[in-house]
Amino acid sequence: MRWTFGLGSLAAVLGVASASSLANTVTVYNDPETGFTFSQYQATYSLSGKYITFRIAVPSDAQQNSQYDAVIQIVAPSEVGWLGLAWGGSMTYNPLTVSWANGGTAVVSSRYATGHVLPPTYSGATYEVFKTGTKSNGTHYQVTAKCSGCTSYAGSSGSQRYLNPKGGNRLAFAYATQKPSNPSSASSSFNVHDVFGYWTHDFSLAQNPSFSNLVTKNGGHTTSSVASKLRKKRIVAGEDGGLAGEE
Ligand SMILES: *[C@@H]1O[C@H](CO)[C@@H](O)[C@H](O)[C@H]1NC(C)=O
Repeated sequence: MRWTFGLGSLAAVLGVASASSLANTVTVYNDPETGFTFSQYQATYSLSGKYITFRIAVPSDAQQNSQYDAVIQIVAPSEVGWLGLAWGGSMTYNPLTVSWANGGTAVVSSRYATGHVLPPTYSGATYEVFKTGTKSNGTHYQVTAKCSGCTSYAGSSGSQRYLNPKGGNRLAFAYATQKPSNPSSASSSFNVHDVFGYWTHDFSLAQNPSFSNLVTKNGGHTTSSVASKLRKKRIVAGEDGGLAGEE
């Protein structure tokens, strides 16, 4: 069984000539619950006309060709067993945000594949899952998380790739109806996907001037405050050789 974005394509499932002929509309969504402004794409994945919603929020001061955090929000019908978002638009050599429902909540798993096999867990992208905006009910599950490491990554050539914080980025998703074998664990294995699709996601509609404040408001930490906490710990442990220049 091969894992490839080539079988069971969205276009084949929907019976159209190519995925690019599908509506590719990215719109602004202001989330009343978390306060983030997201750019949103609704991916139709089955003949039932049901869709999976992908939302992305970025800091307004994010620069091109540099690392920045992003907040991802996903809303998926309960019949979705697991769902993967590929930040570089392909199965291999890019961060994969895999998620699934688990009881009354949902799980996010960081993955990265170098071959067409079950993607192993990936420490190059880390997530802070927000309590606000992460839940599941009888019909849908929803995940909201800050990702550090999703918008830049080593591509297949080994060189660093960056998603454009002000423009369009090609993303992809894959999903399967079968649930992971151990849904309470983020390192659970899961079976090959049934369907995939891709689109261009406009990050210029995802701008948040108060990104760090909103991260904190939703119970997360900003990257700089985590770094300064680590520095403080080192100072306490006496590994820094003194307090000079540290706050
Ligand atoms: C179930 O959850 C989804 C996603 O959060 C939400 O859009 C929907 O309104 C909820 N349905 C009910 C009946 O609460």
